[in-house]
Amino acid sequence: MCGIFGIITSENTEIGKIALDGIKRLEYRGYDSCGIVSHKDGQLFIKKDSGKIQEIQEKLTLDDLMGNIALAHTRWATHGAPIKKNSHPHLDCKGEIAVIHNGIIENFISLKKELLSKGHIFQSDTDTEIIPHLIEEYIKKGIDFQNSVIKTLKRCKGYGIVICYSKEPNFIIVARKESPIIIGIDRGKVSYCASDIPALLPYTRNIYILGDNELAILRPGEVKIFDIENEVKKIERPLKHVDWNIDAAEKGEYEHFMLKEIFEEPDALRKTLKIPENDLRLFAKELISAEHVYITAAGTSYHASLAGKYIITKFLGNYIQEIECSELENQLKDSLRDNSVIIAVSQSGETIDLIEAIRWARNAKKNVKILSLTNVVGSSITRYSNHTIITQAGPEIGVAATKTYTTQVFSLALIGLEIARERNILQKKEIELYYNALKSTPDVIENFLKKTNHSIEKIVDNLERNANYFFLARGISIATAKEGGLKLKEVACRFIEGYSAANAKHGPIALVRDGFPIIFIAPPDETYKRLIGNVMEFKARGGHIISIVVESDEIISDLSDTIIKIPQPANKYYNLFSPITFIPALQLLAYHAALAHGLDPDKPLNLAKTVTVH
Ligand code: F6R
Repeated sequence: MCGIFGIITSENTEIGKIALDGIKRLEYRGYDSCGIVSHKDGQLFIKKDSGKIQEIQEKLTLDDLMGNIALAHTRWATHGAPIKKNSHPHLDCKGEIAVIHNGIIENFISLKKELLSKGHIFQSDTDTEIIPHLIEEYIKKGIDFQNSVIKTLKRCKGYGIVICYSKEPNFIIVARKESPIIIGIDRGKVSYCASDIPALLPYTRNIYILGDNELAILRPGEVKIFDIENEVKKIERPLKHVDWNIDAAEKGEYEHFMLKEIFEEPDALRKTLKIPENDLRLFAKELISAEHVYITAAGTSYHASLAGKYIITKFLGNYIQEIECSELENQLKDSLRDNSVIIAVSQSGETIDLIEAIRWARNAKKNVKILSLTNVVGSSITRYSNHTIITQAGPEIGVAATKTYTTQVFSLALIGLEIARERNILQKKEIELYYNALKSTPDVIENFLKKTNHSIEKIVDNLERNANYFFLARGISIATAKEGGLKLKEVACRFIEGYSAANAKHGPIALVRDGFPIIFIAPPDETYKRLIGNVMEFKARGGHIISIVVESDEIISDLSDTIIKIPQPANKYYNLFSPITFIPALQLLAYHAALAHGLDPDKPLNLAKTVTVH
């Protein structure tokens, strides 16, 4: 939440252009206001306003700022409405110290009171603004800039932050307590920092990941990292190489990232197939020897976990309990035992509720193991995990998760099959059939997307007359129904209930009237026969039935008003992986529904990717 970008070079240059490009690449983290401050010849120049980045650029020409330092910010409002005075950067009373910030400074009210009593004048309603004023207060006492920042940060909680001072033009300070910060160095001449990797891709793939409670001094082409609590101790941090391709973070020929990322699913899955066997084996062994297994995540990653739970449980022979990460502590505080394994799933690896959940579990029991699955190398979750698998979706810029969902389910399926192999519970031939089915999912999706994108537009036209609808399913497909429903809520602003088809008659069916749309997710698995009954129940009440079925399907197709066909064989090996092959249909439906409503599917209302607040 909130994108921050900083740059320092040794010469005055068109720094506004680079800073603007930096925050444009981070716009998925927040887009209700933005701003840039530059430093040139001992003075700070600031431009900021509310609105999307492009609107503000057109109004204020952010890109013509010159200088050797720039700090840029794109905001997702937490404290203070999304209006100009609350947009970042924020300054001290004299306009000499500038700060951009991501996170929430939980103790800001008492600090603000203290500063007000000392005569500081605040311009905004934000928590952030206390930081430049507190630094100013220490500088007034004769403490140098760096130590004033350290003293300030020791008193605050909840930040990823970048700070510059007009009287110290040769360095900027970057620090982190919880919210992510990445640092990049380009050819020894320029240093960058950002809240996420895509902003740095045009300049460098060699990055440092700042840890919690760490502070870095960035000079042009040079970085020194320190521990905030023990500032004399310099931290040696190895450079990490990011092999993401810059094209993956550009829209290219597509109108929106969401559509591009749906079409990238086949390749992302093919790459995910290359997860090292050793990592899979390690996960499998930990899970086999665990007494209790939990799987936890938020949002889309939670739905992937739900699908993964069905697949892994099938081969593990031990029940896996899925728990929303924000509820993990509440649910397990009286029952978590040693020898439990928690699988933590997160695209960003930075979701604060998830990080707190696994930190809590590790502190609660010494022998609890955390196995994490994330898309981002070096993200926070990896630091609190015993082992990590990196899914290979590449950068995902669209706020609504698409390719990262399918790669998560795919990775969990690979773990499931590795467990089957380790436990020796199936004939070799049968394991091969499952593997072949899983390996064919990218081809199934590729064929589906080629054939079906345009016909989904037509289905959307028919649905537009209705405000609400249900997505119903049984068994593993409940994950698909819930995830499909979430996508439509997010990008098309529709109220969709993704629900168990069986449970829907215990209440939700009361809503059904003539023409009420109900989408059934109906792979030909062991739940199919009972789902036929559910389709009939809703049809009998006038429901408009849309079903997602495999190509050879007959019975549910005959009962449906509209059919979406998935080109995959109808057998149990393929059916197990239907959460991967069926979801693109619903992702496309959400995408086209957003367009039909005149909404930007890449920037859903009120949302931001990477939720770093509670
Ligand atoms: C929905 C979406 C969110 C995320 C959730 C968890 O499209 O993207 O629901 O899935 O915020 O984020 P990660 O996976 O980064 O932990």
